[in-house]
Amino acid sequence: MVLIADGTPINVTCREENGFRLDAGDLEAAITPRTRWLLLNSPSNPTGAAYSEIQLRPILEVLKRHPHVWLISDDIYEHLIYDGLPFVTPAQLEPSLRSRTLTVNGVSKAYAMTGWRLGYGGGPKELIAAMAVVQSQSTTNPSSISQAAAIAALSGPQDFLIERRIAFQRRRDIVVDGLNAINGISCRRPEGAFYVFANCAGLIGRHTADGSVIDSDAALCRYLLERHNVAVVPGSCFGLAPYIRLSYAASEANLIEAIGRISAAAMELS
Ligand SMILES: Cc1ncc(COP(=O)(O)O)c(C=O)c1O
Repeated sequence: MVLIADGTPINVTCREENGFRLDAGDLEAAITPRTRWLLLNSPSNPTGAAYSEIQLRPILEVLKRHPHVWLISDDIYEHLIYDGLPFVTPAQLEPSLRSRTLTVNGVSKAYAMTGWRLGYGGGPKELIAAMAVVQSQSTTNPSSISQAAAIAALSGPQDFLIERRIAFQRRRDIVVDGLNAINGISCRRPEGAFYVFANCAGLIGRHTADGSVIDSDAALCRYLLERHNVAVVPGSCFGLAPYIRLSYAASEANLIEAIGRISAAAMELS
C-alpha cells in the first residue's frame, strides 16, 4: 500500500528480546526528513505483541520530537487483549499528537465480521476529507448493508466481548504451552490479537524423513503443510526469520489437533 502511494516502506525490526515491540531508539534512528508516517499496530499481527501505556510513551515522545511525522494507529485488535492488560491508543494518551494521528479500526476482528468489509478511522478533519475524496472516487462507499450491520455491532450489547476474550486467552495458552513443549520451538506468550509468533530456530538445519533439509522458516511451513496438513505462515513473510505465525482463531479441538501434528512433525526431523 505504501508503494502504491509512491512511498518507500521502511521496516523497523521489532526484536523478540523487546517482546516484538518497537524500540523507541530504533524508531528515532529510522526517521529521516523524508519520513511521512509511522504505522503502529497494537495488539499486533503477526506477533500478538501489545503496548502498555509505559511502553507506548517513549514512542510517542520520539514522535513529539519529529513534528513532520504522522501516525497511523491500527487498533483493529483493541478488544483482543489478555491478562487484564488495559488497551491504550496514542490519540488517547497524547492529545498533542492528535492533529497528526489517524486511528483506524474495523469490525473484522472483535465482531468476526471480516466478510462485511467495514473499517473506519478517526483523525484530523482535513485528512478525513481527503480520504473521503479517494474513497468516493474509487469504491464510492462501503455497502449500506455493511454500514447498518456495523452500527448494530458497535452500538449493540458488548458483554459477549468478555466471553470471547476469555475464550481466546484460553486458546492462546493452549497453543503457547503446546508449542513450548516441542523440542526446537520456543514461543513467547503474546499480550493480544490471535496469533503466536514462535521461534523455530531449533528446527532449522534438521532433515525430513526423505532427506531434504529444513533450511528456512518457509521450508518448515511447506513441510508442515504438505506432510502434516497444518497451515502456518513463515515469519520471513513479515520480515523476521526464523519464525512461524500460527493463528488461534480456531476451535480448541482443532488447535489441540494442530499442536499434536506440529509436535509429530518436529519429532520426525533428524
Ligand atoms: C493489523 C491488521 N489491521 C487490519 C486488519 C483488518 O483487515 P480488514 O478490515 O480488511 O478485514 C487486519 C486483518 O488481518 C490486521 O491484521
